[in-house]
Amino acid sequence: MALLHEAGIPAGACSTIEALIHTLGPDTTLVVVSEEAMRSADLAGVKFWIEGQPPWSDLPFIVLTRRGGGPESNPSAARLAEALANVTFLERPFHPTTFASMAHTARKARLRQYEARDRLEELRESQERLATAMLAGKLGAWSIDIETETLLTSPLCREIYGLKPDERFTYPALLEMIHRDDIGTMQAAAERSLDTGEDYNVEYRILWPDHSEHWVQVNGRTLRDDHGKVRSLVGVAMDITDRKMTEASLRQSKEWLEQAVIERTAELEQSYAKVLKEISQREQVEDQLRQAQKMEIIGQLTGGVAHDFNNLLMAVLSNLDLLKKYVPEDPRSARLIDGAVQGAKRGAALTQRLLAFARRQALKVDPTDMGVLAEGMRNLLERSVGPTVELHFKIGKNLPPAMVDANQVELALLNLVVNARDAMPEGGRITIEIDSVKSPAKDDLKAGPYVRLSVTDTGTGMDGETLARAIEPFFSTKELGKGTGLGLSMIHGLAVQLGGALRLSSTPGKGTRAELYFPATSLALEDAVETREAPIQPASRARILVVDDDVLIAMSTVDMLEDLGHEVIEANSGASALEALKANGGVDLMITDFSMPGMNGAQLAEAAHKLRPHMPILLATGYAEIPKGETIDLPRLGKPYSQAQLAREISRLLANGHDRPSAPG
Ligand SMILES: Nc1ncnc2c1ncn2[C@@H]1O[C@H](COP(=O)(O)OP(=O)(O)OP(=O)(O)O)[C@@H](O)[C@H]1O
Ligand SMILES: [Mg+2]
Repeated sequence: MALLHEAGIPAGACSTIEALIHTLGPDTTLVVVSEEAMRSADLAGVKFWIEGQPPWSDLPFIVLTRRGGGPESNPSAARLAEALANVTFLERPFHPTTFASMAHTARKARLRQYEARDRLEELRESQERLATAMLAGKLGAWSIDIETETLLTSPLCREIYGLKPDERFTYPALLEMIHRDDIGTMQAAAERSLDTGEDYNVEYRILWPDHSEHWVQVNGRTLRDDHGKVRSLVGVAMDITDRKMTEASLRQSKEWLEQAVIERTAELEQSYAKVLKEISQREQVEDQLRQAQKMEIIGQLTGGVAHDFNNLLMAVLSNLDLLKKYVPEDPRSARLIDGAVQGAKRGAALTQRLLAFARRQALKVDPTDMGVLAEGMRNLLERSVGPTVELHFKIGKNLPPAMVDANQVELALLNLVVNARDAMPEGGRITIEIDSVKSPAKDDLKAGPYVRLSVTDTGTGMDGETLARAIEPFFSTKELGKGTGLGLSMIHGLAVQLGGALRLSSTPGKGTRAELYFPATSLALEDAVETREAPIQPASRARILVVDDDVLIAMSTVDMLEDLGHEVIEANSGASALEALKANGGVDLMITDFSMPGMNGAQLAEAAHKLRPHMPILLATGYAEIPKGETIDLPRLGKPYSQAQLAREISRLLANGHDRPSAPG
């Protein structure tokens, strides 16, 4: 004890072996015991304790013997050596230094055992941690011996490969499981690791024994032997099927989303374009509607004014006509009257155009050969355009007749050609073209066959604003007094009244094209020779009933007729006219206005026919207020009429009337 204390080793004493066994523990570093104390004792207890030590522990014993008491010559020492395992014998008497050094050595050895114990403890703990982590991370552990291709796997690893935890799993079985398309990838990764020593990282598909497909991710490392030769690959495996599925579905939804975005964007762009187009179309239609409404209102206004004006002019003209006869042969008076007549005639021409624009002129619509019509005007047109303008005719073959008023169309053509000429002060070329077209229903035009008359020039053309306003009445760019601005409006009104249309197109600096569409007809052409130019046959004295609600007109007509030598009865309404017919026996002819309050001209004619079936009736119409669809088969006389026109019409009717059996009474 004293020696141990001296050597700096803390120590305690036990008086018996039993006490020693009781005292022994993991913290005991060294036991010093005398041979004598052991000799008679039962060593079984000590032996039991020693054998029960943990693997790291080998408690050192120092047995103090008597001289010559070593195990080689001392059977009791041999027994001790066997029982105590880690034992050193020290013969007495010994030098204290020898004892101290021996005790130190033994203690140091014991302390190293403690270190080993701690190391083992740490190792165990870290192994436990690793196992927990592997379990938590669902990582299967594996290793493979390169030399023997022996595969070692953890139970979880086998489960990842679809096997039971305790099932046998070999390297060939593993290779067999890998998807054919992935085996190349796996082998390439393995070879690279073996060649370069780099980590082994690979993902591949495997087919489980139940044939289901799974994805695994395998990471590993090479282990080398002391010579640096790769001995084995060690690593972990993980089932990544869920992740792969999620990735795939994410990829799919991303692609789907991208596709949907592309499609939706395209759709939006499309509907946006459509909306824009619709807006612009609607604006266009609204513009057209506004323009049409404007024209309609102007038309109504103009038509009303022109109608009244026309009647007044008629009174003026007929009175002037008569006045000429009554004033004495005085050249001055004759000149004045002529001036007045001319002025009134120009006024009448103007109102005629206004009525045409208002689509209220009396039209005489017949099937007409447009080619013949245009050809017939060639001379007049050539004279009108002058020598600096070339005039070309392009007249189609086998054209159907058009349902038009030939006189009015001639006027329209002349107007178009004059417009073209005016647009070419330096000269140029005018092409008059006639062809037949089938038009689909478009704008104001019904679907059907049309004869198209177009006049194209190489003149100044019109800008957008001028083109848009060109058909407005009184719109003219010509200097004051040169143009009335009624040419195109009249032509437009005529075309529409005939069931056709006027189309203008123009490019500034290039020229203008005006197209007139007239409905084609399958009716045969009537005899071209018209009676309207028939020479005046002075009619014999007749009794004529004049009916007009306008007293002024009635009066001037009466005057003209009386001047022609006829006997005239005047009535100012349909009813009074019928009275007159009943009261007067022999009336040879009735001339009636169409538009009258109460009973119009057509109704009067019908009633009159009942009274006098054979009496000729002449309908005087200022404009076409005869309702559409009503077919009145009566000879007509357009207002204003001159005395000569009146005379011609009367003699024609009376001549025809003479062919008929004369009316009784
Ligand atoms: N062929 C054309 N080339 C260029 N501009 C034209 C043509 N035809 C018509 N225009 C334009 O349209 C306007 C109206 O024409 P419109 O025939 O209605 O009247 P105007 O010719 O001016 O007068 P008016 O016909 O009474 O002599 C013209 O003033 C002119 O500006
Ligand atoms: Mg004109």
